[in-house]
Amino acid sequence: MLDAIKTYEDVDSWKTIMFLYNAALKEVGTKLEILNDEFQHVHRYNPIEHIKTRIKTPESIVKKLKRYGYETSVENMVKHINDIAGVRLICSFTSDIYRLAEMIGNQSDLEVISIKDYIKQPKESGYKSFHMIVAVPVFLSDSVVQTKVEIQIRTIAMDFWASLEHKIYYKLEDHVPEYISEDLRECADMVAALDEKMLLINEAIQKCLDSVEEE
Ligand code: GTP
Ligand code: MG
Repeated sequence: MLDAIKTYEDVDSWKTIMFLYNAALKEVGTKLEILNDEFQHVHRYNPIEHIKTRIKTPESIVKKLKRYGYETSVENMVKHINDIAGVRLICSFTSDIYRLAEMIGNQSDLEVISIKDYIKQPKESGYKSFHMIVAVPVFLSDSVVQTKVEIQIRTIAMDFWASLEHKIYYKLEDHVPEYISEDLRECADMVAALDEKMLLINEAIQKCLDSVEEE
């Protein structure tokens, strides 16, 4: 990215923009931690197992702009790349995912720009996850800037699958043998079955606990 940025003005706007994305990421991260703490306080249960945040690297931003067919510029990056700031929420159960998505949607200072439910409609690869693009206001000394953050919500099992699949495609790019893609799709079905079974077990445990408490 920085190679493509030649004028002082551009370097300056690049730095300002990255500052905004970092600020937005911090805000959303804290907001989600507070939601998780409140949920723990009220329901004695954490819907979030852990939170990962990351800022996209300049190399990766340039690569994506190229893939989309845009020239490398700060303007194009802000307009067309939604995941410069990214938060990943890892949950135990699929029910937690929808609970969290609802809680996020109810935050009055977060604007939900788009939702993609790859759990209800998995990708061809077998990829499952719940994606939200939100905009959060970053308050500067003289202005407020709505800044986009991508939130990915998935279970531990979905995350395990996506991490391995990403690693394979990152390393082998277009040279992934068909039998590996097949195996991955098969594993994606196993992940779905595991998630469903774990959810049922958890519900059964809750019922047992409730009846013990009643006695
Ligand atoms: P990009 O795929 O990022 O260009 O954006 P998009 O507009 O197509 O959004 P999408 O919701 O499809 O994907 C956004 C992000 O989800 C990606 O950057 C990845 O982090 C993740 N993702 C999407 N598809 C896959 C997949 O098949 N495998 C893995 N491991 N991750 C995926
Ligand atoms: Mg994509």
